[in-house]
Parts: sequence; structure tokens; C-alpha cells
Amino acid sequence: MKNILVTGGAGFIGSNFINYILNKRDDYFIVNLDKLTYAGNLENLKEVESKKNYTFIKGDIVNAELINFVFEKYKIKYVINFAAESHVDRSISGSEIFFRTNVIGTNVLLEAAKRFNVERFLQISTDEVYGSLGSTGLFSEKTPIAPNSPYSASKASSDMMTMAFNHTYGLPTVITRCSNNYGPLQFPEKLIPLMILNAIQNKKLPVYGDGMNIRDWIYVIDHNKAVELVFEKGKIGEVYNIGASNELPNIEIVKVILKNLNKSEELIQFVKDRPGHDKRYAIDSSKIQNELKWKPEFNFESAIVNTIEWYLKNKKWWERIISGEYQSYYNKQYSDRI
Ligand code: NAD
Ligand code: TYD
Repeated sequence: MKNILVTGGAGFIGSNFINYILNKRDDYFIVNLDKLTYAGNLENLKEVESKKNYTFIKGDIVNAELINFVFEKYKIKYVINFAAESHVDRSISGSEIFFRTNVIGTNVLLEAAKRFNVERFLQISTDEVYGSLGSTGLFSEKTPIAPNSPYSASKASSDMMTMAFNHTYGLPTVITRCSNNYGPLQFPEKLIPLMILNAIQNKKLPVYGDGMNIRDWIYVIDHNKAVELVFEKGKIGEVYNIGASNELPNIEIVKVILKNLNKSEELIQFVKDRPGHDKRYAIDSSKIQNELKWKPEFNFESAIVNTIEWYLKNKKWWERIISGEYQSYYNKQYSDRI
């Protein structure tokens, strides 16, 4: 049995990971530690909550005393750190919590991992640490780190600490850097679920700037299969980029969503641009493809339809979200843009 501390497992990618992995493996014992911020939702984990090889702890990765207690109590030998503040716009409104969770929190986990001699520490990172591309080129693992937003700067810092623990103390770390994810259970502050929900409700779709910023989209299950592979077989001390070579300008995504929902493009509203908006992200994933034999299995055309259908079928899930704190976030974020 592998005793694995998964942090941030009640969020979008972490909960998809736990649901996926516990469905196929009974040799993993997963301790899911999550602070349950606005983005964490235990409803995402209904399928697994009664499994014997799963347990949940509500807690903050910044709390060193709690983290040490958890390592000791559950004899943690592996860590997968998904926990983070993850939204660029929120980091622009206030950077402090990003520094606290993403930098200090990761450091607390690294210290505990060192103290308890873990066998592997997987840091879940993002392609945003590389900064922005012009109209050509791809991010490789050798691209210099050059983050632009408070979010990406905090993720870059946690990557650097992870690498320093490997270099200095020999902590067995690996890092994955993935591009933009989409799929079921994504909190509707991010582009795709926000646009799907607004379109369903016949609300305006707020496109930043001219809509020509480009992201490289990957279905969340493809990401999590890559995470599983790197966790099992990734070379210690290495970084692996993950991406599905699916670059699209934001406006194209918005149009695909409207078309699938049979809604008019008149719902599109161009709004004030995001400050410091990164122009383009695009991933070279040849390293993980060649070394670990990973490749993406989902194509955008059908996976976006599955995603839209998931939101149509799970109205209760998102109605509860948009009736809470989300409404004040949305008003604050978009009222002075429009
Ligand atoms: P999310 O915001 O949906 O979920 C984050 C989870 O972390 C939530 O459950 C939240 O409650 C928890 N959390 C936040 N602060 C915490 C703390 N101090 N202690 C414990 N738990 C805490 O994020 P996501 O989209 O699922 O992203 C997961 C990870 O993947 C993040 O590290 C993010 O940087 C990275 N990533 C995300 C994307 C993407 O497209 N969403 C792409 C590449 C990498
Ligand atoms: P987002 O989902 O926030 O991911 P990230 O900024 O981490 O890449 O945004 C994806 C793209 O969509 C980004 O270029 C900003 C743009 N965007 C909008 O145009 N309107 C919106 O309401 C949001 C949330 C994002």
C-alpha cells in the first residue's frame, strides 16, 4: 500500500485525480488534505468518500503543526501537491493569499517531506511559470522561468523551492507543468465553465480585450493520466511539461460553446482587458511523450461537448456555487470591466 498525501483534492483537478485513481487502484491509500476554500467542494468526491483507502482532512498546508501530525499519523511516504490558489484574476485583486498558500504552504510540505523521508514529492505546477509567448514557439522544460502574474510568480517560487530541496537535501521531487485544463467539476471563475454557465443562463459572455489571447487546452483526465505516470515513473529531479497541442484563441472557445448550446453570438461582450494579460501559451510535451510514453487521448471537439453536457446535467452542483460567495466575486470582477 502506498500512503499518499494528496493536497487540494477537493478542487477541480485534484478531485478529478482522486476519482480517477481510486477507481483503478486499490494499492494507494489517499489522505486528501484540503482547506475547503471557495474552490474546494466535497460534493466532488461523493464517489470515493466511503472507500476504505480514502480519508479526508480539512486543513491548511500552511499549518506546519497539522502537516507534521498528518505525516506521522498516516505514515505518509508520497506527496502530490495540487493545493493552490489558482485563479489569475483573483491574484491580480490580491496577491497575499497566493504567496501564503502557494509559496509558504509548499515550503511547509517540503520541510515535512524531508523530515519524514518521503519517497516521492510531486509538485503540480503550470506552464504559466514560463511567462508569455509571442506568435511562434513553444514552452519546453528548458524555457527560462519568467512569470508575469502574481499567481504564476507564486507557482514559479514553489517550483524553485521544490528544485532547491532536491538539489540541496536530495529530496526525491518531480514537477509537472501543465497547460490550461477543462472538464467536469471546474469552478466557474475560469474561462470555459464561466462561459458555459453564462450562456446557459443567457447572460453576457465577457471576453477580455480582443479575444485573441491563446491558450493550449487539455482535458483534465489527460492531465491526470500524465500526473499518474510522472508519479509512478518520472525521473527524480526532473520537470515534465504536459499539454495536448490544442491552441485556440479565447474567442474561438467562446464561439464553440455558444454553437453547442444553440445560443446567439450576440451574447458575446468584449470587455476591458486583464492587466498584464499573457498573450499566448503553448506546450512542447515531447519529453513526457518520449520518456514516459504518455499521449493525450481526448480531442477538443468531443471533450468540450462532454464538458458542456456535464454542466447541463449538473445544474444543482453549479447553482449552489453561483448562489454563494461567487455572486459577489462576479460583481466585483466584472462590474468595472463592462
Ligand atoms: P482549484 O482552485 O480548483 O482547487 C484548489 C484546491 O486547493 C481547492 O480545493 C482549495 O480548497 C485547495 N486549497 C487552497 N488553498 C489551500 C491551502 N492553503 N491548504 C489546503 N488546501 C488548499 O485549482 P485547480 O484548477 O484544481 O488546480 C490544481 C493545481 O493545478 C494547482 O496547483 C494549479 O496551480 C495547477 N494547475 C492548474 C491548471 C488549470 O488549468 N486549472 C493548469 C495547470 C496547473
Ligand atoms: P483563465 O481560465 O482565467 O485561465 P488563465 O488565465 O490561467 O490562462 O483564462 C483563460 C483565458 O480566457 C485568458 O486569456 C483570459 C480569458 N478570459 C476571458 O476572456 N474572460 C473571462 O471572463 C475569463 C475568466 C478569462
